[in-house]
Amino acid sequence: MFVSFEGCEGVGKSTQLRLLKEYLEKTGQHAVYVREPGSTAISEQIRNVILDKSNVAMTEMTEALLYAASRAQLVREVIKPALEKGELVICDRYVDSSIAYQGYGRELGAGLIRRINEPAVDDCMPDLTVFIDLSPENSWRGHRAADRLEQESNEFFDKVYNGFNREIEASNGRIVAVKPDIDKNVTSQKIISLMRERGIIK
Ligand code: TYD
Repeated sequence: MFVSFEGCEGVGKSTQLRLLKEYLEKTGQHAVYVREPGSTAISEQIRNVILDKSNVAMTEMTEALLYAASRAQLVREVIKPALEKGELVICDRYVDSSIAYQGYGRELGAGLIRRINEPAVDDCMPDLTVFIDLSPENSWRGHRAADRLEQESNEFFDKVYNGFNREIEASNGRIVAVKPDIDKNVTSQKIISLMRERGIIK
């Protein structure tokens, strides 16, 4: 099984991934944890190029193709081999981030981003995508040092959030929005229940 986590910046996604990992370890359930962009030697090098604040000249198309290139490597080197062995794979961001950020945020269009990502993803789509549903105005964005993407305007992040919501509608139930509670443990319970209902974890 393959599960991805999505959300805008500062919605507590990393905390939720940590709490899920703690639960799975406590209950003796093994999983392979990856993040995008990154998680292979080559993908981490691509990540550094994408997020480097000095790369002000990077065009939107270059950015979109670099995310797809990083993904192509991760899918072939880690995700597919793990799924073939019957492992549970948990990915911090995946192709829906490209559609939301590059497709809607950068306005390259969802259709174009889907086409670019088709060869990258190579039919390897999540069984479930958990979208931590907190709008940019309610998030904790801006409370830490910003990388190149985090320096974007509020308007950009509104477009990204809207993009995720469009994706949910088009996803036939694959993407599930989880509204975070003030108590992170309550949110974690919601996510664990959802994954149990879907038969992904025990
Ligand atoms: P990261 O520090 O991993 O952010 P976060 O903790 O919010 O997940 O940086 C990844 C950044 O890249 C983040 O701003 C979202 C963006 N991104 C895209 O724009 N397109 C993509 O396809 C992916 C995977 C990430």
